[in-house]
This record gives sequence, C-alpha cells and structure tokens, in this order.
Amino acid sequence: MPDKLYRELADLTAQARGILIDYDNLGIDGVFLPEPGVRPAGEDAAGSWCPAVTESLESIREDLGDCQRCKLARERNRIVFGVGNPRARLVLVGEGPGREEDRRGEPFVGEAGQLLDRILAAMGLDRSQVYICNVVKCRPPGNRDPEEDEISACEPFLLRQLKVIEPEVIMTLGRYASQTLLRQTAPMGRLRGHWHSYQGIPVMPTWHPAYLLRNPEKKREVWEDVKLVLHRLG
Ligand code: URA
Ligand code: URA
Repeated sequence: MPDKLYRELADLTAQARGILIDYDNLGIDGVFLPEPGVRPAGEDAAGSWCPAVTESLESIREDLGDCQRCKLARERNRIVFGVGNPRARLVLVGEGPGREEDRRGEPFVGEAGQLLDRILAAMGLDRSQVYICNVVKCRPPGNRDPEEDEISACEPFLLRQLKVIEPEVIMTLGRYASQTLLRQTAPMGRLRGHWHSYQGIPVMPTWHPAYLLRNPEKKREVWEDVKLVLHRLG
C-alpha cells in the first residue's frame, strides 16, 4: 500500500479509537441515529415553519456591527456571534470566546470544542443542527470571567438570538453560563441534572467541556444530562 494511504488509514483508525474510548468513558453504549423519515433534533421539517418575527440572525448580527458597547471591544480580535441552525431545537450556551475562538470568530473551536463535537455526535447531532453561542461575544482578556457591565451590554443580543431561534431546550455549559443565565448562585453540582428556565425556555445546565478535559470522571454526569435533553426533544 502507498505510504500516504497507509498513513491516512492509520490516522483514521487512531481517530476512531479515540472516539470509542471517549464514548466508553462517557458510559455510552450506543448512539442515537435518526430513524428514516424522522427529523433529527435541531432540524425542522423543511419549509413548514416561518418565524413570526421581523428579525433574523443576520439582522441581529448587523445591528451588533463593530460592537463597542463594552470594554471587551478593546482587546478582542473578532466578535464570536454564534453558529449553527437558525431553526435549532437545541441551543448550547458557553461562557465566552477563548483565544482560538477570538482568532477564528467561531465558538468552541479549541480543544474543549472538539470534545463538545464528540458529545454532540453521541447525541446523533452535529454543529449544523444545533446552535452554539456564548453569554458574551468577545473574549475576556486572559480568559477571565465576564463582568457585570459586559454581560448587561451583551445579553440583549443573546435574548434576541433566542427569540428568533425559538429553541425547545437550552444547555448551559459550565458554572459561569449556568449561574449567569439562571440568576442562581448554587454550585454546578446542584444545578446540573435538573430543569430550569430562561425566558420561558427549558434549560439543562451541565459541566463545561473544558472542565471535562480536566475532570474526565464527570463525563458520565454530562451524559445523564444529555439523556434528559434527548428525552425532552423526543
Ligand atoms: N432526538 C431527536 O429528535 N432526534 C435525534 O436524532 C435524537 C434525539
Ligand atoms: N469556552 C466557552 O465557554 N466558549 C467558547 O466559545 C469556547 C470555550
């Protein structure tokens, strides 16, 4: 076999092995695949739904412009608006862009993002079916927690995005996003695994993928939370 093909095959095998090891650690013994004719979570039947709002994600992004509404504008490189399906049934909300996200303008593209992709894959979903964004759209310097004034400047845009998307479920990723959106101070160990509500939308808080990279034993709990979400999405 030519060397190049052999290396590709070895790479693919290693990737597949990594995914299986991950699933094993998560306690996953199978994956959800949509039945033929059943629409997957995150996808609406084509053309069957028309939002009763005049805004669109594009018009909200336009309104945000080269945002200077808070001090995060000074050091950011790119605004990380959010990505995914404007009709998503599931929206994932993280804390704020990190270095890689700030460089690329897309949420969860670093190491934690790759783990998030694997969690989504185990749910039978991918990035194009859900919507992913953050509490704040610009990187806090040195990855510090966003501050009160930064949240108040940014949250209205998140609210408008959610109004357009009208998801059935929100998953908040990590302590920061969960406590901020839910206006709660309880620790993650108490928040996760239970349903909450944000603007009338059911919210399931779970551990942040970056936290899972440091605490892989918590992946099992994330999978419990994920199962509650999948159950709710039918
Ligand atoms: N829920 C759905 O609606 N579709 C899937 O593929 C998985 C869960
Ligand atoms: N962590 C987050 O909370 N959000 C991102 O977009 C990336 C890492």
